[in-house]
Amino acid sequence: MNRKENNAEDGNITSGKNISNWTDSVSPIVFKPLAEDLETDVVIVGGGLAGISIAYCLTQEGRKVILVEDGYIGSGETGRTTAHIVTALDNRYYSLEKIFGKEDTQLIAESHKAAIDFIENTVKKEKINCEFERLNGYLFLHSSDEKESLGKELKAASRAGIKVIDTEHVPGLLTDEGRCICFPEQAQFHPLKYLKGLCAIIEQKGGKIFTETHAAKIDHKGLTTKTGYTIKANHIVVATNSPVNDKYAVHLKQKAFRTYVIAALVKKDSLPKALWWDTGNQKESPSFPPYHYVRVETYNDQYDLLISGGEDHQTGDEKETSHAEDKIYISLEAWTRKHFPIEEIKYRWSGQVMEPMDTIAYIGRNPLDRDNVYIVSGDSGNGMTHCTIAGILITDLITGRENKWKDIYSPSRFTLQKSNHFFKEAMYTVMNLIKSSPDHKELVSIASIKTGEGKIVELKEKPYGVFRDDENLLHFVSAKCTHLGCTIVWNKDEQTWDCPCHGSRFTYKGKVVNGPANKDLEAYSELYALEQNKL
Ligand SMILES: Cc1cc2nc3c(=O)[nH]c(=O)nc-3n(C[C@H](O)[C@H](O)[C@H](O)COP(=O)(O)OP(=O)(O)OC[C@H]3O[C@@H](n4cnc5c(N)ncnc54)[C@H](O)[C@@H]3O)c2cc1C
Ligand code: FES
Repeated sequence: MNRKENNAEDGNITSGKNISNWTDSVSPIVFKPLAEDLETDVVIVGGGLAGISIAYCLTQEGRKVILVEDGYIGSGETGRTTAHIVTALDNRYYSLEKIFGKEDTQLIAESHKAAIDFIENTVKKEKINCEFERLNGYLFLHSSDEKESLGKELKAASRAGIKVIDTEHVPGLLTDEGRCICFPEQAQFHPLKYLKGLCAIIEQKGGKIFTETHAAKIDHKGLTTKTGYTIKANHIVVATNSPVNDKYAVHLKQKAFRTYVIAALVKKDSLPKALWWDTGNQKESPSFPPYHYVRVETYNDQYDLLISGGEDHQTGDEKETSHAEDKIYISLEAWTRKHFPIEEIKYRWSGQVMEPMDTIAYIGRNPLDRDNVYIVSGDSGNGMTHCTIAGILITDLITGRENKWKDIYSPSRFTLQKSNHFFKEAMYTVMNLIKSSPDHKELVSIASIKTGEGKIVELKEKPYGVFRDDENLLHFVSAKCTHLGCTIVWNKDEQTWDCPCHGSRFTYKGKVVNGPANKDLEAYSELYALEQNKL
């Protein structure tokens, strides 16, 4: 495999070592870093699809907007997505009905339909060349799932107002998976080309964008950057995927999962342009069954790329810590080869999705904060539409327009139906905090750390994350996550330190690349370890 890698040192281009076909096919979207104090109407933190969509919508309303991004635009999960733009939500309509009731489920469906229309209209209106196209999506049964689940979903989706067609066979597959549900009028695009197009319009409308600008302190008056500049604003929007301005309220209601992708060559036009999903492995997790998601993207004159994802697990669980990512990719490749006529694999990468306890994103006013502070989080694997809904909804909240989706997406909501899951998650967090006490730490020697490997090591009873790079140099960081102090684990695949509690992630040099942590890990030199007589 021709594995594309990035210098994972600073996280500016992308938040890990592997790069996606999106990142590889556009030049980085870069603006100047902020170098003065400014005042504005709205300041937005985060230059992914959420932040950029909100900035676009607000500038359309004539609002004065400044957006800051600590890497380059799209360097977070938006550059690692697979960009299915769907009303066929990851979590089934029949389970949404149980949680939210029929009427609110109709509103949820309506909001996702509106998001796809919004993207389509914007692409047309602004003439954004981002390969947007409408296509069919096919949902078929995973072997671990009950036969009835497709029938239930067909009826529930239809009740929610989504067009669905009971279909005899799944087009394009090498295997016969039996009946499936066809969801017409789904869509796909190149996410970074879409962001690039929106950024150009934001600037034309007077919006300002700054990259390599980390918002170190955020409150209801604005923000202060890591380099000490301030932006004062009437409204503050934190669109950092996992809110970096919220310590507990949202993070106790959602969980971070890692998800894996391969992109392989298929003969040009040998497959219909479509989206495919199975219903997920119910045995692995009944709450969040890991499922496969597949699409096709143009590559060159001879080949298309088949982009296939899945094999999700909670961030920091044993699949990550036991260095089993290779097995994950092998399993993903095997599943993909069984179902599709793929040839060489050109890319592989992983990313993070946030799963809220009741499966719908958190978009709106930040809980326990002033009314002028807003967040977007909990993409639930449907971030393309959720981020676009955020563009519409947060603009309505800021401009004082009524919006009927407001309560459904409110980050302050609490839905009882999933409280079991919520308590399990809370317990998991507590267990991790306990495990992070020195009594429970596995002791390893620095000498046992191989090139390209990271391990937790104790020096004078303090835990450190230690990574040995390709030149045999050791990099030491504090092993305590800067969010709430859980012990980080090594992600060999992306060469980052990941926190199992709420999904914060750091480069091997300690730079924070995923919230909720907003501060780097303390980094130490090899000399420091020598002084501790441990080398
Ligand atoms: C492998 C994978 C496949 C996926 N597939 C799909 C799919 O097919 N369809 C779908 O709908 N969704 C999918 N998703 C989900 C979707 O990609 C995400 O939900 C979406 O891209 C998130 O966008 P965002 O703007 O919220 O976050 P991000 O794109 O992560 O943007 C947040 C930005 O905030 C910046 N930031 C963080 N802290 C600070 C700070 N203090 N100061 C300044 N900037 C900061 C980060 O650098 C980052 O660029 C997938 C996700 C993954 C990982
Ligand atoms: S992400 Fe919360 S403690 Fe690390």
